[in-house]
Amino acid sequence: MSQKKVLVTGTSRRVGLHIAKRLHQDGYAVLAHYRSETEGVQELKGLGIETIRADFDSRDSILEFVTRLRHQYRSLRAIIHNASSFTPTDDDLARAAEQYELFFYVHMMGPFLINQGLQDRLQGDEGNPADIIHITDINVENPTPRFDIYGTTKAGLHNMTLALAKKLAPNIKVNAIAPGPVLFTESHSEEVRQAMMDETPLAREGGAEPVYLAIKSVLDNPFLTGVSIPVDGGRRLSKR
Ligand SMILES: NC(=O)c1ccc[n+]([C@@H]2O[C@H](COP(=O)([O-])OP(=O)(O)OC[C@H]3O[C@@H](n4cnc5c(N)ncnc54)[C@H](OP(=O)(O)O)[C@@H]3O)[C@@H](O)[C@H]2O)c1
Repeated sequence: MSQKKVLVTGTSRRVGLHIAKRLHQDGYAVLAHYRSETEGVQELKGLGIETIRADFDSRDSILEFVTRLRHQYRSLRAIIHNASSFTPTDDDLARAAEQYELFFYVHMMGPFLINQGLQDRLQGDEGNPADIIHITDINVENPTPRFDIYGTTKAGLHNMTLALAKKLAPNIKVNAIAPGPVLFTESHSEEVRQAMMDETPLAREGGAEPVYLAIKSVLDNPFLTGVSIPVDGGRRLSKR
C-alpha cells in the first residue's frame, strides 16, 4: 500500500471520521484535516493518524493551509474533499448572504485552491493516476429548494469535478461521490426521517460505510475520471 498521504477534509465527526478510520484500517497513510477539536479527532490521534487543523472560512485561511501542506508534503496519493456546511437557507437576506459566502468557501473555493495549489504534489502509484474525490450530494441534480444555497454551491463542486477531470488528466483522476440519506442529522425530525426513507427505494438510512466503499472503488480503479457516483439507496429516482 502507498505510503504517500491521503488527505481527507472534515474528519472531526460522522462521515469524514469514518472515511479516515477506514482508510487507515485498509493500510493508507492518512492525513486527517479537521476544524473542531472533537472526541473523533482525539480518536484519530490515538490511532496514530496524522492530523492538521484549518478553518476553510476565508480565502486567506485556505491559502495558508495550502502553503503549509506544500511545505510539509512532497507527495500525496489522493485528496478527498468531505468538509461541508449544511443548513437550510435563511429567510433573512443579510444572513442568507453570509451563508452564501461561507458555503462558497467551504464547497467551492476551498476545494479549488487546494486542488490547484497541490496538483503537482499528487502522484499515483505504479504508473497509475492520483485521485481527487469530491463528496457532493444528490441535491446537485434534483435540488431541495429549502437548501438552495447548500445545493447550488455543491452543484458548483460537481461541475468542478468535470472541469478538473479534463484539466488535470492524465496524471490525476477527478471524481465525485454523491450521497443521499446516509446519516441523518439531529435536526431531522422522526417525521422527516420517515418521509426520506419512504422516498428511498432501499428504504433505510445508508450509514457512512457505503460512502467509504464508493471511495475505495474509485481509488482502486485507474480508468475512471469525471464521474459522479450516487450513494443514495436510489433516492434520486423518486425524490420530490
Ligand atoms: N449525511 C448525509 O446523509 C449526507 C447526505 C448528502 C451529502 N452528504 C455529504 O457528505 C459529506 C459528509 O457528511 P456529514 O453528514 O458527515 O457532514 P457533517 O456532519 O456536516 O460534517 C462536516 C465536516 O466538515 C467540517 N467543516 C464544516 N465547516 C468547515 C469549515 N468552515 N472549515 C473546515 N471544516 C469544516 C466539519 O467540522 P466541524 O466539526 O468543525 O464542524 C465536519 O468535520 C458532506 O460533504 C455532506 O455534504 C452527507
